[in-house]
Amino acid sequence: MEAVTPMIASPEEAARKAKENTLLSPRFYTTDFAAMDRIDVAPIRAEWDAMMAEYEGDNNHDHFQRTPEFAEEVAQRFSQVPPELRQEFLDFLITSVTSEFSGCILYNEIQKNVTNPDIKALMRFMARDESRHAGFINQSLKDFGLGLDLGGLKRTKAYTYFKPKYIFYATYLSEKIGYARYITIFRQLERHPDKRFHPIFRWFERWCNDEFRHGESFALIMRANPHLLRGGNLLWIRFFLLAVYATMYVRDHTRPMLHHAMGLESTDYDYRVFAITNEISKQVFPITLDIDNPTFRAGMDRLFRIQTRINEAKAQGGLLGKLRQGIWAVAGAATFARLYALPVHRHQLPAQMRVAPAW
Ligand SMILES: [Fe+2]
Ligand SMILES: [Fe+2]
Repeated sequence: MEAVTPMIASPEEAARKAKENTLLSPRFYTTDFAAMDRIDVAPIRAEWDAMMAEYEGDNNHDHFQRTPEFAEEVAQRFSQVPPELRQEFLDFLITSVTSEFSGCILYNEIQKNVTNPDIKALMRFMARDESRHAGFINQSLKDFGLGLDLGGLKRTKAYTYFKPKYIFYATYLSEKIGYARYITIFRQLERHPDKRFHPIFRWFERWCNDEFRHGESFALIMRANPHLLRGGNLLWIRFFLLAVYATMYVRDHTRPMLHHAMGLESTDYDYRVFAITNEISKQVFPITLDIDNPTFRAGMDRLFRIQTRINEAKAQGGLLGKLRQGIWAVAGAATFARLYALPVHRHQLPAQMRVAPAW
């Protein structure tokens, strides 16, 4: 089954794609800064200080610079890839730069609007990292004349308001899943260098350690505030786990060639990433989704098929197209609800809060 993806051939089209606010596109967030200011990390002070020392050390300060060979490799290798793969890769770069920049903006806004020294320092470090990440990907878009005007995007893209606790659940997960995605690709291409069709993948190993550390920061904030991890909040955790996994699954399946070119297959890649994320997230969430349940897997496939129908209806346009879009959206919500109702795994939180990036 093919998804309908519009061509990205001009900077305007790239900018439109980055600005998009669909269920699947990366969003920009804002939050309650006064509530952020009240976050207290005193219960985990020792772990916190150790983590801040890592940020201070800044072991990736020299990592996000292009080498002279970078351009050569783009010219030699990437110029050979078929146009469909090129489109999927550009789509991948645009969603990646948008989500990196989304983190950059959110962390920077929090940093500017709080006085709490712990939160302020953390947010400044994370914004530093995300701005390097976004800038580095944007350089690769610029190679094709498709660089995004990040300042313009910041001014014109819509912002979604999230309470701090939703920011913690969602951002923790997107940082950890970002780590799992980057490291899985890096390891695959380490084993199969002939499949590394673009040099940017060589940067993913040290890069993903930044994302891992960002995730650790949110894990510590939540462990310092254990009420966020029990009672009714478990329903929210479950919701965010499913929303983040489902979004990734559907989005990745619209780019089958990208994975295929790396010798991966979208479903297998996604379940490897989910397995890693499940394992890591036990540091903070007392529940994990049962990703091996055949009903779960069938539901994820159905979500992708429904999204394909929605895209087709959108492309069709007109009243009939709108009607079809509505019907499939209801089917999608029903499938999501069924997935949400599936049994989950439960476990105790470990005494040792931090996890090492060992994948
Ligand atoms: Fe990042
Ligand atoms: Fe990050």
